[in-house]
Amino acid sequence: MKKKLVVLTGAGISAESGIKTFRDSAGLWEGHNVNEVATPEGFAVNPALVLDFYNQRRRELQKVQPNLGHHILAELEDDFDVTIITQNVDNLHERAGSNKVIHLHGELTKVQSTTNPQYIIEWISDLNIGDLDKDGNQLRPNIVWFGEEVPALEYAISLTEQADYLVVIGTSLQVYPAAGLIHHTQALCPIFYIDPKPASLYNLQNSIQVIAKIATEGLPILRDKLNLLNRSK
Ligand code: APR
Repeated sequence: MKKKLVVLTGAGISAESGIKTFRDSAGLWEGHNVNEVATPEGFAVNPALVLDFYNQRRRELQKVQPNLGHHILAELEDDFDVTIITQNVDNLHERAGSNKVIHLHGELTKVQSTTNPQYIIEWISDLNIGDLDKDGNQLRPNIVWFGEEVPALEYAISLTEQADYLVVIGTSLQVYPAAGLIHHTQALCPIFYIDPKPASLYNLQNSIQVIAKIATEGLPILRDKLNLLNRSK
């Protein structure tokens, strides 16, 4: 039986593919205040601006490629039962070949009904005012905005509880409930954290190994450590 490896990723894993992180740029996200483009209130005030913002992000996604970090995570499936829980809305894990990817904060390549969040469909082109669901209601990006429920949270918690190893990559661990997932591991589950500017991890009984490097440098190191652990069991 393969060991269960749960990987929590954030914006840092995609940084070397050319997608900007959120908190490395003075509180602005691609030049916008987060409240304007990542809250239901912002969407109510200026839906066209919000749709355009995500249209730009969706177009950008077609120009970028998965990096070595995404590829190594996909290759780890040869030796581990890997589940990726990502905070990212890009599809770079899937494009690198990872088979089990849970998107805590939604997906750029999907849209949902403004009246029924469970009505979700694939969407690769621009989304505009007047694009409607089957009942005639406006569609919106399938993004979990600040203040909204995180539908995949319970599932992510149960996976984390069952993990043999938890790997955390490229996240400032500032946004909850995602950041709280690390507290759902069993005490014996080792935690590895790859980030050039790692946040402090408090109140954990687990063994914690911080690899203070960018993802493409830290993941080869992690792969070696995991292979050693796998061989010694
Ligand atoms: N490799 C690995 N990590 C990196 C790299 C890199 N090349 N470059 C930067 N980082 C790290 C930063 O040091 C930082 O700790 O990535 C982290 C990015 O943190 P944030 O910008 O806060 O992104 P994230 O933690 O994913 O944000 C969580 O906040 O805005 C919301 O919903 C959005 O999912 C997002 C959530």
